[in-house]
Amino acid sequence: MEMGGKIYHFTELDSTNDFAKGLADGAGEGTVVVADSQKRGKGRLGKDWYSPEGGLWFSVVLGRVNNLPLSLLAGVSVCEALQGFGFKVKIKWPNDIIIGGRKVAGILAELEGERIILGIGLNLNISRFPDEIKGKATSLLLETGKTYDREKALKLILGELEKSYKLLKKGNLHSLLNKWREHSTTLGQEVEVRTPQGILGGKAIDIAPDGGLILKLPDGSKEKVLAGECSLRGR
Ligand code: BTN
Repeated sequence: MEMGGKIYHFTELDSTNDFAKGLADGAGEGTVVVADSQKRGKGRLGKDWYSPEGGLWFSVVLGRVNNLPLSLLAGVSVCEALQGFGFKVKIKWPNDIIIGGRKVAGILAELEGERIILGIGLNLNISRFPDEIKGKATSLLLETGKTYDREKALKLILGELEKSYKLLKKGNLHSLLNKWREHSTTLGQEVEVRTPQGILGGKAIDIAPDGGLILKLPDGSKEKVLAGECSLRGR
């Protein structure tokens, strides 16, 4: 299987994830859908994703691997690719990619039949953000004043994805989780996680094999959170 063995490229789409879902079972593993801009880019938890021209917006079609956390895999791969560009990169649970405290990339994994669609959004050459996200978002261009080659960035990320996916398929979940731990800015912190069931506060102590965040609650008990919005306590 080769990541990006087949690449669909569009100048504009509603969402590369939605287009890839339409292909899903008919598409070979590693098929990639890229768009120069998205009209209805989707973020996690039903949010919109700001997707103007200048960013790298793409989705990869993968097979399901026994409930393995492919979105963590994508997070780690993006981190390692950005390190290749010389950036100091962190991951905020579950897989927000952070440079200098601001989000530079995000991942949206969706299930479609027997396929997983891994949507990756990287703010590459974006010079300004809308007011609502201005303080929280950054781009590679804003960080360094340089513009980046989109094809090169895509290739680098796909190369990292392919390496880690192969490891994961061989059963090497351990090394993926360790890489995630290494890059994490969440572990060891007192956090608050906004979940669909309510807000949970505690110390983030580990990542679970399914990608859940393990919290130590004030009463000493442990709880795993599978989805939600994580912030540092008191901020
Ligand atoms: C997040 O952090 O909220 C996830 C953002 C995911 C954005 C990417 S851009 C390419 C793909 N297509 C979409 O509609 N969303 C993902």
